[in-house]
Amino acid sequence: MEVESVMVTGANRGIGLEFVSQLVKLSKPPRIVFATYRNESAVQDLKDIQEKYKETQIVLIQMDISKMSDIESAKNIVDEKVGEKGLNLLINNAGVLKYLGFPEITVENMLFHFTTNTVGPVMVLKVMLPLLQNSAAQKTSGMNVSRAAVINISSLMGSINELTDAHPKKFLQLIGYRTSKAALNMAMRVAALTIKDQGILVVNMCPGWVKTDMGSDQAMLEPSESISTMLNTFPNLNECHHGTYLDRNGNIILF
Ligand SMILES: NC(=O)c1ccc[n+]([C@@H]2O[C@H](COP(=O)([O-])OP(=O)(O)OC[C@H]3O[C@@H](n4cnc5c(N)ncnc54)[C@H](OP(=O)(O)O)[C@@H]3O)[C@@H](O)[C@H]2O)c1
Repeated sequence: MEVESVMVTGANRGIGLEFVSQLVKLSKPPRIVFATYRNESAVQDLKDIQEKYKETQIVLIQMDISKMSDIESAKNIVDEKVGEKGLNLLINNAGVLKYLGFPEITVENMLFHFTTNTVGPVMVLKVMLPLLQNSAAQKTSGMNVSRAAVINISSLMGSINELTDAHPKKFLQLIGYRTSKAALNMAMRVAALTIKDQGILVVNMCPGWVKTDMGSDQAMLEPSESISTMLNTFPNLNECHHGTYLDRNGNIILF
């Protein structure tokens, strides 16, 4: 996989931070990584990577994905840096999770998840689309991560097919989160089919259950394992995977 430029949203901790940390260690690392964060006080780990790995330029960008003005400003920063080469790879990673079940569920909890996990990634893609189109235009055919791609970090929790009565009851207490990820999968499938002739690969991918603030220390996977598996899967993705919903190994998850 040869990726010229990558944007990772929610890059200051968890899965996003691990993506940045592994991207700069690739045998052919990206020339530039745009690592987005919300709070200035939370970027020390990103600064440490920036200091240590000089082969890749790491550009820190403040961007709350629920604010259109932040997304537009981020686009201008990226555009200025990448020029006509465009943005190669967008990893729509930022997300939130708060336990609440039915019938306790509130309007606030539903909208909290929908705003960040569904609307945010769609708006980031909408605004970054011209930059992804520029990247796709550098090559003439095919769909792959080296040309132009959007990987949406979704979750198995968003699969309606997977949720049966056999499921642990604890994970029913995630009605807002599950709904927002199911909606993300649908929104990105619509986007994928709409732009299918533009050479920009769009894939939804579940990282597995990962030890992060969100995943908790009960999770099955270390971030290093989850992200290295996803990065190994990326080069195998092509037009057959466009608009699909995959696990970290590249296997189809039924919506
Ligand atoms: N961990 C798992 O087991 C697991 C499983 C399946 C899917 N996922 C998905 O993987 C992604 C990353 O999860 P994680 O485990 O790394 O979670 P995490 O440790 O809680 O990190 C979440 C990241 O998203 C950022 N974020 C939240 N709301 C944002 C907003 N409105 N604008 C911009 N950034 C925002 C956070 O920034 P702040 O630091 O500013 O809050 C943080 O950088 C999520 O989409 C999640 O749904 C995780």
